[in-house]
Amino acid sequence: MKTVLIGVTGGIACYKSIEIVNQLRKDGYNVEVIMTRSAQEFVTPLTFQTMSGNQVVTDMFDPVHKWDTKHIELAKKAALFVIVPATANVIGKIANGIADDMLTTTVMAARSPVLIFPAMNSYMYENPIVQENIEKLKKYGYHVFKTASGELACGDIGSGKLPDWQEIVKEIEKFCNK
Ligand SMILES: Cc1cc2nc3c(=O)[nH]c(=O)nc-3n(C[C@H](O)[C@H](O)[C@H](O)COP(=O)(O)O)c2cc1C
Repeated sequence: MKTVLIGVTGGIACYKSIEIVNQLRKDGYNVEVIMTRSAQEFVTPLTFQTMSGNQVVTDMFDPVHKWDTKHIELAKKAALFVIVPATANVIGKIANGIADDMLTTTVMAARSPVLIFPAMNSYMYENPIVQENIEKLKKYGYHVFKTASGELACGDIGSGKLPDWQEIVKEIEKFCNK
C-alpha cells in the first residue's frame, strides 16, 4: 500500500483537503497528514485523523508520542508528498530552506516527489515575492500547480483559488501510478 503524505497549511481552502484525504483512503492509499499550527485554526486534527485512519502529526516536540525522528520516518515512508493547500507563508519558507515546524522539516527531508497546490487571495498570489518563490521551487524540482480562477473566499474574483478537490486527487493518483 502506497503512502501519500498530505501537508495541510493555514488557508481557508483546507476544508477541501478533507475530501482529498477521504478519497485517497477509499482508493486504497495509506494517508498520513501533517498539519501546521495555523491549519488547526481552520480544521481540527481529529477530522483528518478520522478521515485518514491515522494519527495526525502536528508537533515537532510532542512529548507524548516521542516524535524524535518522525519527520525522517514520514519522509522515507512517503511515495508522494502533497502540500494542499499551500499558503504563501509555507511556499516562502520551503523556497528559502526554512524548517521550523513539522511540515517544513519533513519537506526538507523528502526524497519523494513533492506536489504543491498554492491557494491564497489573488493579491497575495500575484505578489512578485510569492511568484519568485514559486519559480525557485520549480527550479529545484518541486511540482507547483497552477491555481484556478474564480470567486475567492473573501469575495474577490481572480487567481489564487484551489482547484476542485477531484482534480487534485486525479493529479495525485497520476503521480502515484508513474
Ligand atoms: C480567515 C483566514 C484565511 C486565510 N487564508 C489564507 C489563504 O488562503 N492562503 C494563505 O496563504 N494564507 C491565508 N491566511 C493567512 C495564513 O493563515 C498565515 O499566513 C499563516 O501564518 C500561515 O501559516 P502556515 O503556512 O504555517 O500554515 C488566512 C488567514 C485567515 C485569518
